[in-house]
Amino acid sequence: MKNYLNINDVNNLDDLVNEAIAAKKAPFSNKELGQNKVLGMLFFNPSLRTRLSTQKAAINLGMDVMVINFRSDSWTLEFEDGTIMNAGKSEHIKEAAQVISQYCDIIAIRAFALLDNKEQDYAEQVLSGFQKYASVPIVNMESATAHPLQGLTDVMTIKEHNRKPKPKVVLTWAPHLKPLPHAVANSFINYGSTIDCDFILTCPKGYELDIATNNNITVSHDQEEAFKNADFVYAKSWASNSEYGSLTLPEKEWEVTAKKMNLTSNGKFMHCLPVRRNVVVADEVLDSEHSIVIEQANNRTYAAQAVLQSILEDIKA
Ligand code: CP
Repeated sequence: MKNYLNINDVNNLDDLVNEAIAAKKAPFSNKELGQNKVLGMLFFNPSLRTRLSTQKAAINLGMDVMVINFRSDSWTLEFEDGTIMNAGKSEHIKEAAQVISQYCDIIAIRAFALLDNKEQDYAEQVLSGFQKYASVPIVNMESATAHPLQGLTDVMTIKEHNRKPKPKVVLTWAPHLKPLPHAVANSFINYGSTIDCDFILTCPKGYELDIATNNNITVSHDQEEAFKNADFVYAKSWASNSEYGSLTLPEKEWEVTAKKMNLTSNGKFMHCLPVRRNVVVADEVLDSEHSIVIEQANNRTYAAQAVLQSILEDIKA
């Protein structure tokens, strides 16, 4: 694999999931592969899981890791070409990406959507800027519109827990205090709808995502109907799509409760974390035996390891 920006970089998803499962069984079996190689992790936004699991994945592969938090540790970057840089931005992406490429063999980036302008967010300015000017492979650690490390983790987790030839997988919108980016939901649709399953998106009107529309994903505005006989329920909040970036619905009735989970076929509850208890999902669900969120978070390491391994193999070839 040359880069890991989104699902389009994956040659064979099944093979990549199997690599992740193999890495979970034998995490240190490719310890030589990353020797004398450096992963640079660039954060424009906070993280717990992505930061630690990707770092752990790199360590398992024998890599060294450098981390920089652009909000606090570094110069503010300018991404526009031809700008007169006489305001707040100190360094242009042209220099920054080339310089970082001299220090690192792989660059991993986290840069969320700003949710002010859909066109701008979907243009992926930060990720595209690094892709354009860096000379080493790029890994997306959640960009404005995609979280492919999470998407890979999610299908890996479904594969481990699935007991049916064609499970029913439901992605449900959930309430939140503030509008959140589309990235996780987009990637779950991208990856989840690719595996052999009945995939349904349930959300309030106006929250249907373009990726679902473009891929002819079944959409229901009736959450309880969608939950019926589900094998996996994945909850996530995201900002409105029709009124981009807004969150007009303090819709308590979309919270995932035990009563709703009882409609499923002993369905497993999934969430990427962090999750707001008793807003997105009730304690009774999150603390139940049906919740697999902790194992899902554990799988982040091995999904990242499969991705880094594939890139390292390409560098070595
Ligand atoms: N799921 C996820 O990406 O978690 P973090 O934001 O903590 O990295």
